[in-house]
Amino acid sequence: MKRALITGSSGLIGSEAVAFFDRLGWRVDGIDNNMRREFFGPDGDTSPNLRRLRATMRQFTAHDLDVRDREGVARLVREVEPNLIVHCAAQPSHDLAAQRPFDDFDVNAAGTLNLLEAARRLCPESPFVHMSTNKVYGDAPNEIPLVELETRYDYADQEHHHGVAEDCRVDASLHSVFGASKLAADVMVQEYGRYFGMPTVCFRGGCLTGANHSGAELHGFLAYLARAVREGRRYRIFGYKGKQVRDNIHAHDVCAAMLAFFEAPRAGAVYNLGGGRGNSVSVVEAIARLETLCGKRLQSEYVDAPRRGDHICYISDLRRWQADYPHWRLTRSLDDILLELAAVPTEATR
Ligand SMILES: NC(=O)c1ccc[n+]([C@@H]2O[C@H](COP(=O)([O-])OP(=O)(O)OC[C@H]3O[C@@H](n4cnc5c(N)ncnc54)[C@H](O)[C@@H]3O)[C@@H](O)[C@H]2O)c1
Repeated sequence: MKRALITGSSGLIGSEAVAFFDRLGWRVDGIDNNMRREFFGPDGDTSPNLRRLRATMRQFTAHDLDVRDREGVARLVREVEPNLIVHCAAQPSHDLAAQRPFDDFDVNAAGTLNLLEAARRLCPESPFVHMSTNKVYGDAPNEIPLVELETRYDYADQEHHHGVAEDCRVDASLHSVFGASKLAADVMVQEYGRYFGMPTVCFRGGCLTGANHSGAELHGFLAYLARAVREGRRYRIFGYKGKQVRDNIHAHDVCAAMLAFFEAPRAGAVYNLGGGRGNSVSVVEAIARLETLCGKRLQSEYVDAPRRGDHICYISDLRRWQADYPHWRLTRSLDDILLELAAVPTEATR
């Protein structure tokens, strides 16, 4: 029986990965200490996901472990001997990182190194999937010429139609403290592939989403927006007239990419992974659609200053990934995702 070790296993992507591999008959060990609650308060609490997984998975063991605990991580990797490592634990917010730079770096960069080094010593042949982010490019994507349309920004030139590719530069740009710690982790994951020949991949995520996201104002764009519409919360739109664009991918499709990589791993691979142009949406467009789906008006407030380093228009160019893994497909459209988020019962996100 195959075994997967998944960090951040109570979070959005980690919990989806636990369920995904459990359904395939794998034995899954998860690492999560619910640090998301500590980062974001009650909105960030991931314990409902843990309870759901404990109640419904067939072969899942949850470990209340901190990825900063180097010895603890090594001990668990030795015990589990995983065939696959999926690393999703992180401090995921731009804005919070500036307030807690040591926690951010210790979790995102040092936590990743703890896991990589344990893998190198104990299971170097096992594919290592790292959830990276498009924030590794900093604000360099904002240099792409844009046009302002009625409800969104878009790329002005046809050559950028497919979005941002992996050769976008990663330095000489403003990353946020979070982007910088994630870039440190991303480069380290690549290095363990290139220097040590390990089968590692960085998936540089666009907006990853799904019903199990504990959406908080500081992290989880669509999940938090849907929550605000459903629960009648006041929502703040930060800058760019709400025309900033994100591409959204459902957590299930991210997990399918993990499996594709497991079946045909490479060393030191890097891919942008998002919803692509077809799943892109601006803030004001998403608000309009969610209001229709929920049958409620959102109370919103415009803050005339964008978040620092925020992307104006970000669409993941998926062509490198699709060329290397042609059987993988996006299976959830933007509207499928919005319908799912509109239908989340309030207590399920608490
Ligand atoms: N959600 C997105 O839009 C998005 C976009 C791009 C990249 N990513 C990346 O994907 C990964 C997963 O994101 P997510 O949205 O599932 O985040 P999430 O916050 O929902 O899940 C992360 C989980 O890690 C746990 N965690 C945090 N610190 C920990 C620690 N020190 N030890 C153990 N567990 C810890 C949290 O409690 C949480 O359950 C992250 O690396 C994130 O940076 C996410």
